[in-house]
Amino acid sequence: MKLPDGPRISPALQLILTLFRPLETLEEYQKRYGDIFRSNLIGLGQFVVLSNPQAIQEIMTADPKVFESGSANQLLHPLVGDNSLLLLDRDRHQSQRRLLNPAFHGERMRAYGKLICDITEQVTNDWAVGKSFIARPTMQKISLRAILRAVFGIDEGERFEEIQRLLCEMLNTFDSPLKSSFLFVKALQKDLGAWSPWGKFVRKREQVDKLIYAEIQERRQQPNLNGEDILSLMMSARDEAGQPMTDRELRDELMTLLFAGHETTASALAWALYWIHKLPKVRDKLLQELASIGEDKDPSEITRLPYLTAVCQETLRIYPIALFTFSRILQAPFQVMGYDFEPGTRFSPCIYLTHHREDIYPQPKQFKPERFLERQFSPYEYLPFGGGNRRCLGMAFAMYEMKLVLATILSRWQLSLADNHPVRPIRRGVTTTPAGGVRMVVTGKVSQTSRVRSEAIAN
Ligand code: HEM
Repeated sequence: MKLPDGPRISPALQLILTLFRPLETLEEYQKRYGDIFRSNLIGLGQFVVLSNPQAIQEIMTADPKVFESGSANQLLHPLVGDNSLLLLDRDRHQSQRRLLNPAFHGERMRAYGKLICDITEQVTNDWAVGKSFIARPTMQKISLRAILRAVFGIDEGERFEEIQRLLCEMLNTFDSPLKSSFLFVKALQKDLGAWSPWGKFVRKREQVDKLIYAEIQERRQQPNLNGEDILSLMMSARDEAGQPMTDRELRDELMTLLFAGHETTASALAWALYWIHKLPKVRDKLLQELASIGEDKDPSEITRLPYLTAVCQETLRIYPIALFTFSRILQAPFQVMGYDFEPGTRFSPCIYLTHHREDIYPQPKQFKPERFLERQFSPYEYLPFGGGNRRCLGMAFAMYEMKLVLATILSRWQLSLADNHPVRPIRRGVTTTPAGGVRMVVTGKVSQTSRVRSEAIAN
C-alpha cells in the first residue's frame, strides 16, 4: 500500500511556512492529511511526517541498521563539523555514545548537583526587587556555565569568559525565523565579508575554535590524568586501532555538547518560568511542594519531587524545544502502518503534533502538570528528547538541571511576568523558543534560611 500525497503547495512555500509558522502549518497539515503524511521542502527534500505513536514505535524499535540519522543532520554541519555525534552513523556513532554516556548519568551527573545550584545563585545574585530581566538569556548563562563545567571541568578565567560570550553571539546568528533560514537554505551560506550575516557567523566560529584548540593544546601538554571532565575522558579514549581522537575530532564533539547541551535547556527553563508564573495555581502548588521538604533542601530530594517533575514534563510537552526528532533515512525497503516505503525515504517523527493529540492529552492546549501524575505515557506518546538509538544523550542531565535551577530560583525569589500577554513559540535555528524570551520582574526576596542547601551533595 502506498502513502497518499500530502500538501500540494510548492516546496518553496512549504519551506517558508515551516520556517515562519511552524506550529500552525503542522496542525493544518495534520487536520487535512492525518497523522502520517508527506511534506516537501525545497532544498531539503521530501519527508514523511509522523504523529502516530504506533508508527513512531515501529520506526524507533526497528533494527538501527535500517535507518541513518547522521547523514540527515547535514544541516547542523556548519555548527558542529564532520565528526560530531549528531552527524555520525553506525559503529562510530555507537562508540562515541558509549564513551560520552556515563558523563551525563548516575553518580557523574549527580556530582554536578551542587554546582548547578551554585551557578544559579551566582547568576541571579544581582537581582533586586523591581528589577526586570529576560528569562531566556539569563537561563542561558546558567546552562552554558553548567555544560562548560561538565565538558572542560572549568568555567572560569579569561578563555572561558570569551568562549561563553562568543558562543552566545555565534548562536544569535539564528535568533529569529528569518535568520534561521541561513541554516536551512544552503545558498544563503555565503561569506560576503565581516558584516554579512554568514560572514559574521563564520568569524565568530573561528574565534571559538581558536579558544577550543588552545585548551586542547594545553591539555595535551599537561594532561589532567584524574580529570573527570569530558575533555579528559575523550583525550584518554582509544579506538579499536589504538588511536586517540584527533584535535579536529575533539573540537567537533566539544562543540556538539556545548551547542546541544545549553540552548535547549535554556529555552526549556524560560518556558517553565513562564508557565509557573502565568498560572498562580501551578506556582502555589510548586511552592507548597518545595516547602514540604523543609528549609535545608538536598538536591537529590528536589529532583525526586513529583509535582516539580510533572511541571518540567508538561513544559516540554506543550511546546517541545525540538518540534521533530532527527530524521530517520531508510536504508532498505520497510513498512510502517502497512504502507510500503523505498530506501531513501526520510521519516520525521513530529514531537509537537504527537504531544498535541487530543486522544492522548485531553485539552492539549492547556498546561496541566497533573496529567503526568495521573497516568504514564509511552515513549512513543511522550518524546521531548526523541527516542531509540538517537535518544538525547543529555536527557537525564537536562531534567536534573531544570529541576535544580527552578527550585533554587523559586526558593530565593518572588517573580512575576512583566505582562500578561500569551507567549508563543518562535523558531530559533533548529529549535523553538518563547518569543521575546519571557520578560519577568523580581517582586520579592525569600528569606535566606529557605535556600536550597547546596553543600548536601558531596563531590
Ligand atoms: C531540555 C533540553 C533538551 C532537549 C529538549 C533535547 C532534545 C533532543 C532531541 C529531540 C534530540 C534528537 C533525538 C532523536 O532524534 O531521537 C536530541 C539529541 C541529542 N542531544 Fe539533546 N536535548 C536537550 C538537552 C541536551 C543536553 C543537556 C545535552 C548535553 C549532553 C544534549 C545532547 C544531545 C546529543 C549529543 C544528541 C544527539 C544524540 C545522538 O545523535 O545519538 N541534549 N536532543
